[in-house]
Amino acid sequence: MKIRVLGAAAGGGFPQWNCNHPNSRRAREHDPAAKQRTQSSIALSQDGKDWFLFNASPDLRQQIQDNVVLHPQQDLRHSPIKGAVLINADVDHAAGLLNLRESQPLRLYATQRVLDVLAANTIFNVLNPKFVTREAMTLDTALELKKPDGSSMGLKIIPFAVPGKVALWLEDASKGDNFGSVDEDTIALEVEDMESGAKFFYMPACARLTDELAERISGTDLIFFDGTLWVDDEMIREGVGVKTGQRMGHMSVSGSEGTMASLQDLDIKRKIFIHINTTNPILLDDSEERKIVEEAGWEVSYDGMEIEL
Ligand code: MLT
Ligand code: MN
Repeated sequence: MKIRVLGAAAGGGFPQWNCNHPNSRRAREHDPAAKQRTQSSIALSQDGKDWFLFNASPDLRQQIQDNVVLHPQQDLRHSPIKGAVLINADVDHAAGLLNLRESQPLRLYATQRVLDVLAANTIFNVLNPKFVTREAMTLDTALELKKPDGSSMGLKIIPFAVPGKVALWLEDASKGDNFGSVDEDTIALEVEDMESGAKFFYMPACARLTDELAERISGTDLIFFDGTLWVDDEMIREGVGVKTGQRMGHMSVSGSEGTMASLQDLDIKRKIFIHINTTNPILLDDSEERKIVEEAGWEVSYDGMEIEL
């Protein structure tokens, strides 16, 4: 199974368009130690030929340009992209679908909750329903990813709920502290290559590592995990925002309740941060925080990162 990181940054990308924080400035100035990153997405293939997107980032057009394996290969209209799986309806994970307009056969998987959001926003009908099949995923139920022609991608996924919340743009303050969020709003995926049996977890959003989740991911070869913020109040501290990570549905990398501490005793071979916010110092190759995560056995993903499992 081939995994390619299309976008390693969180919503807004690195640098975010309106961010003038020193980290963003370094990225904007093409400082080699502050590599620019597009918004959160990976692509996956069993045979290296046909690919599935896991999340469709608003930067998808650029991501396709930057990854030759995603270029058309034959005929006048073709794409190696056979479909997409969405883990939530966040702008950074769903808006990229609009790049996939035109009459191109695709298969789209999401929870019913997220499919309902897409259905309610008729702009997504640019994905011509005659060519794009939408399929609901059931939590905790294994599903074989299929190409639009019904043949198998050779990949199986198990979607499962993680602590989190409904997309920012769908928050309903009248519904209490969790803004009306339900289990199907934020999920993670266990992915399996049906030929080799290789498995990994994809968890770009997670607000808390419950005991149940810790048990689920323990023993895996590889995990991509939510690396949004270094500390919970980072955006407030840095003077660029008013929300904590918890308020946004993300756990932080550092701290006693943070990701490094929560995962340190779990048996996981390779741990990679993804969905990293423009303010997070782990984005900088020369930061103290980068050194700390690397010493704790973590990698920081970057656009174009390739993994073969
Ligand atoms: C998030 O991950 O918290 C969201 O993508 C935030 C946003 O929509 O800007
Ligand atoms: Mn996001």
